[in-house]
Amino acid sequence: MKNIILMGPPGAGKGTQATDLVDRYKIPHISTGDMFREAIANKTELGLKAQAIIERGDLVPDDVTVALVKDRLSQPDCANGYLLDGFPRTIPQAEALEEIGKQIGRPVNLVINIEVPQDILLDRIAGRRVCPQCGASYHVRNMPPHKEGVCDRCGHELIQRKDDNAESFKIRLENYDKSTAPLIGFYKELGLLKSYDGTGGKARLQKELFETLDNL
Ligand code: AP5
Ligand code: MG
Repeated sequence: MKNIILMGPPGAGKGTQATDLVDRYKIPHISTGDMFREAIANKTELGLKAQAIIERGDLVPDDVTVALVKDRLSQPDCANGYLLDGFPRTIPQAEALEEIGKQIGRPVNLVINIEVPQDILLDRIAGRRVCPQCGASYHVRNMPPHKEGVCDRCGHELIQRKDDNAESFKIRLENYDKSTAPLIGFYKELGLLKSYDGTGGKARLQKELFETLDNL
């Protein structure tokens, strides 16, 4: 069973790895960031609530985020596992997920922690371009699409995220250090954490993750 959390600071490569992992293992990619961005694009009640918070780099309140994930994990396509990307991000969210896992009979069995030093993260965020259609992530220099400004996977035009600016990024990093980094100890204690070096290029990390997950 693959009930997996993908953790790491902003720009660590969670979304980049998630895309290939879910293709290989046929499990849903549950990215709270993508869900919020979709809600913002569709101007739903949730989107209107989350927009300003996300654009300035702050965290959406726990009760809103937990309710969203609880609903998503209860969908039938999670019956054979799931890959959480960007959730949980606080200790209360992690505690809520423990409960949800018990309720749906699918508790988390692996936490992948991607480690990247802060000086590398800023360059990755500044050069990132994303596909608003399929969620694929590129970098203008490190990982350009075949055709500039166009998604390789679905052909949609690429955009820059509103929170990918120096000011919001600083706040995202502060929030990571304060609220999310403590989850590393939380999951270590539960014996679920595996850490990986995220600086060695996409392919190398992908190979290591496939090796671990093929045997999970
Ligand atoms: P979210 O969308 O989750 O953003 P994030 O955590 O800041 O992470 P990113 O998506 O920026 O980074 P990533 O690790 O996915 O990196 P990527 O693969 O794209 O959340 C956004 C916001 O939503 C939050 O700030 C918050 O407001 C809200 N939110 C979401 N979840 C929440 C929650 N649980 N609670 C409360 N609020 C929540 O890669 C980055 C770049 O690096 C790309 O350009 C890529 O091409 C490049 N790259 C990737 N891997 C490599 C590599 N190995 N080598 C070189 N370059 C690489
Ligand atoms: Mg992401």
